[in-house]
Parts: sequence; C-alpha cells; structure tokens
Amino acid sequence: MNDIMTDLVLRPEAPADHRVVEELTREAFWNLHVPGCDEHYLVHLMRDHPDFVPELSLVAILDGQIVGNTMTTRSRLSSDDGGELETLTVGPVTVHPKFQRRGIGRAMMARVADAGRERGFAAIILLGHPHNYVGYGFRNGKDLSISMTDGSHPFGLLALELAPGELAGRAWVVHFSEVFEVPAGLDEFDATFPPRQKQWQPSQELYAMALRAQLV
Ligand SMILES: CC(C)(COP(=O)(O)OP(=O)(O)OC[C@H]1O[C@@H](n2cnc3c(N)ncnc32)[C@H](O)[C@@H]1OP(=O)(O)O)[C@@H](O)C(=O)NCCC(=O)NCCS
Repeated sequence: MNDIMTDLVLRPEAPADHRVVEELTREAFWNLHVPGCDEHYLVHLMRDHPDFVPELSLVAILDGQIVGNTMTTRSRLSSDDGGELETLTVGPVTVHPKFQRRGIGRAMMARVADAGRERGFAAIILLGHPHNYVGYGFRNGKDLSISMTDGSHPFGLLALELAPGELAGRAWVVHFSEVFEVPAGLDEFDATFPPRQKQWQPSQELYAMALRAQLV
C-alpha cells in the first residue's frame, strides 16, 4: 500500500479531466446503490453549481491515470438559537475498482480535511455508508447532535469535525446543497456513455437500509 502512496499525486480537477472523472464515477457506482447510477450525472451538474468548491475537488493520479476523485460542495449547519457554521460535503467520492482498499480514498479525504480546516470550515458532513468513513474518523451525526432538516438521524449521516469543540453545546441541523436533488436528464446524459446493463445487486438493499435506519 505504501508503494502506491509514494507515487500518488493529488491535485484539483481540471477541465480536461471532466469526462474521465465521469467515466470513473460511472464505473465505480454502476448498480452499487440502485440499478444503474446517477452519480456521474451529479458530478457533471455539480461543477456549474454555486455550492461547488473546485479547489477541494480532487483527482488522484497514478502513472498519469486518474484512479480516484472527490467532489466537494458547501453545506452548512444551523441551530435554533441562531448558530451557523460553514461545512463541506464530500461526494461522490470514487476510487477505481481496481485500486480500491489501498488507501487512495483515505489520502483524498485527508487532503480535503486539511485544506478545509485551513479555510475555516467546521466539519465535513455527508450521507454514505459508515463502513467507508468511520476509519477516516467520521462519527455519526447523532453523536455530534446533528440531524437532518426533518429531525431524523440516519445511520448514514456522518460528520468529521475539522475544528474540534466548535460543534459542542448546540443541536445542529445540516443543510446540504440543493445540487443533490438531481433533476431530470439522467437518461439522456447516460446515453452518451457505452450501453451497460442495469440490474439489482445486494449492495442496493444495504445502501437503502443505511439511509432508512435511524440512530437512537
Ligand atoms: C468508498 C471508496 C471511495 C473508498 O476508497 P478506498 O481507496 O477503496 O478506501 P481506502 O483504501 O482508503 O480505505 C479506507 C478504509 O475504509 C474502510 N473501508 C473501505 N471500504 C470498505 C468496505 N467495503 N468494507 C469495510 N470497510 C471498508 C476500511 O476501514 C479502510 O481501511 P483499511 O485500509 O484499514 O482497510 C472506494 O472504495 C469506492 O470508490 N467505492 C465505490 C464508490 C463508493 O461507494 N463511494 C462512496 C459512496 S458512500
């Protein structure tokens, strides 16, 4: 694992990377959460959204090839008593299937966390599979008094504090970017990629459970 870490280059995504990143995203997410996927379309739309943070949206490069990427958007926390904190949301985060479980995801997240901390963001907050993120130091939102806008505490709501202590003493609600409400247009966009079969696989059930399950 350390060998590839020595050679791994992380840098912000450039316009020439866009299609490669979309292909990579489609490759890694296809049939993972739903039959087919919409993450490559989300990546495509994100870049033009005002909440997108290009300098923290990275590609991971090995031997000149893009093998991973993170997309980063602004989010925020609010509290009933008028508290407001600027936060980041990382996702989609992708490592090419051939290179997964070798530390590339960890390296990208660490780079975004360091840069986010330097820029004064309070936390990285996302919805995802806990098993992908607890190893990076993420905790469940419930344990940091962070809920969704409807007051729920999904198992998959995860937060990494960047400014320890800043969240303490208040109950927070997270507001993700509206860019995650993916509009119509997926099928037309997907038709610009090679045809691929949509099918069910067990990971879809697991993902649905992670988002529906609540912490008490
Ligand atoms: C999730 C993803 C980005 C992680 O990147 P990665 O480079 O494979 O992850 P790392 O090698 O940095 O692993 C970091 C830690 O995450 C945990 N982890 C990652 N995948 C895991 C899995 N499937 N099951 C259990 N733990 C896992 C492990 O604790 C791992 O630590 P280890 O090195 O001690 O094994 C990558 O696997 C991927 O692209 N998956 C498909 C797309 C996806 O699911 N994206 C996230 C959406 S929620």
